Amino acid sequence: MNPGAPETGLAEPHLAEILKTVSLDVEYVRAAGNHLFRLDDNGREVPVLDFVGGFGSVLLGHNDPEIVAYARKLLDKQLPIHAQFSRASHADRLAAALNEILRREHGDDERYFAIFANSGAEAVEAAVKHAELDRTLRVAALTDGIAANVEAARALVRAGRAVVADGAFDRAGVRERPQDPEAGFDALVAGIERHNAHRLSAPPLFLAPEGAFHGKLMGSVQLTHNEAFRAPFRSLAAQARFIPLDQPEAIRKTVDAERAVLYDVVVVDGSVTVVDRDFPVFCAFVLEPIQGEGGIHEVPPEFAREVRRTCDAIGCPVIVDEIQSGMGRTGSFLAAPAAGLRGDYYTLAKSLGGGVAKTSVALIRESHYHKEFELVHSSTFAKDGFSSLIALKVLELLEADGGALYRRAGELGRGLLAMLEAVRAEFPDVIKDVRGRGLMLGVEFHDRSDAEAPAVRDLARSGFLGYAVAGYLLREHAVRLFPTGSAVNTLRLEPSVRLTDDGIDQLRTALRGVCSVLRAEDGQRFLGG
Ligand code: F0G
Repeated sequence: MNPGAPETGLAEPHLAEILKTVSLDVEYVRAAGNHLFRLDDNGREVPVLDFVGGFGSVLLGHNDPEIVAYARKLLDKQLPIHAQFSRASHADRLAAALNEILRREHGDDERYFAIFANSGAEAVEAAVKHAELDRTLRVAALTDGIAANVEAARALVRAGRAVVADGAFDRAGVRERPQDPEAGFDALVAGIERHNAHRLSAPPLFLAPEGAFHGKLMGSVQLTHNEAFRAPFRSLAAQARFIPLDQPEAIRKTVDAERAVLYDVVVVDGSVTVVDRDFPVFCAFVLEPIQGEGGIHEVPPEFAREVRRTCDAIGCPVIVDEIQSGMGRTGSFLAAPAAGLRGDYYTLAKSLGGGVAKTSVALIRESHYHKEFELVHSSTFAKDGFSSLIALKVLELLEADGGALYRRAGELGRGLLAMLEAVRAEFPDVIKDVRGRGLMLGVEFHDRSDAEAPAVRDLARSGFLGYAVAGYLLREHAVRLFPTGSAVNTLRLEPSVRLTDDGIDQLRTALRGVCSVLRAEDGQRFLGG
């Protein structure tokens, strides 16, 4: 393959065009630590300081030497990579290592079973599928109970020991009421079954915060708040109700508004009456402890508390998506405990593969686990030998020296945040906010839709200002960072633990540079004209 070959324009050409307009269409030829390298006109390598970090998948840095050496060793010794349907002791050891960490972070012994997958969205969908299996089993138990109650009541009616109460017909929406007790009972049951069948045929609902991002596959994109990603594909999967993070009380209100019941019968003193049984409308509450793609927003503790309280009250599982915030990025393996959030499920991906393998996992709490799921969910590539062993190595590195890398992520994050706050204090008219935890930070720029300079104004109005800022930082300062698709004015920083103080200084200079240009509304310099 020749990297200099002319492009055919067949691999997502529209995206390539957009990258070009904002100077981001750079080809990288090498990656190491916190740097990517491109070639200049003379064919010499130029280092670019990377704050995108493979969208958070290279917490240990690009091509971490230990991971690469280990990967090489595995390949050299002809490790069986694809040996489906055989004993997978590597995956078992990985699940055990994850459990040991979870036990420490939770402070209790409850086990989590692991279902492996290949990407973040796939892990989310595996978790959601398992939660739906759990819900359908609960629905089946409910309908079995109702069927048994109906048969018991029928026997009493046949024996002349019970009759349908008048009010029961009203409850079940039955207008024709036969005089004969058995026919009356049959009419009541038909009414109940009509109501229940209507309810049972409705798809489940999900709960998620506004700003959520959980992937772009058919199911996961419906849990992703951004309309542009979600709306065209609405008909393909079950829907979520999105709740603002600053309105914890809206969780209960939403649940109450969607409440639904199945009808059941009870016989009291010879009278057959209709009673409500709460129907499990919601499949799961899915949330990130710190929203990443949504623009770096931490779940407030009151919101986390209300999620747990409401979900426990209605028997709805909580899926905590740590695909971006997990693996030590925020200073501890999971970000959820610091947010006061306990997951019935956790999803991990991105840095789990050490920046070398593609792997992900859904971890499911023992008290919620259905082992039959293992027979109905699988993927050719999931749980492969190579990815599992690389992930084990990643955990070993993270846990080494009493968690030195977690501490490093926390310290680096505090240093970065202090620097960002100083730049914001200098340019409050340009930078609106800086926020985040550990190596998961955001710098929000003020909207410039009303800028005097037409170039700046037009970019802001079309939602590309953040990308143009990224283009400037890359072109002028060899610093790589982007906004996200859902928070176009917020630059997201997800560097690796290999970032140095020099790197922080370089970013400071770069940000001060772009802030000066934006303050001066120097459209020409901004766009490199
Ligand atoms: N969940 C979270 C919290 C994510 O941040 C992402 C991806 C996914 C799930 C889906 O993972 O891409 O491996 O299928 N986030 C990206 C981002 C794309 O911009 O941060 P995937």
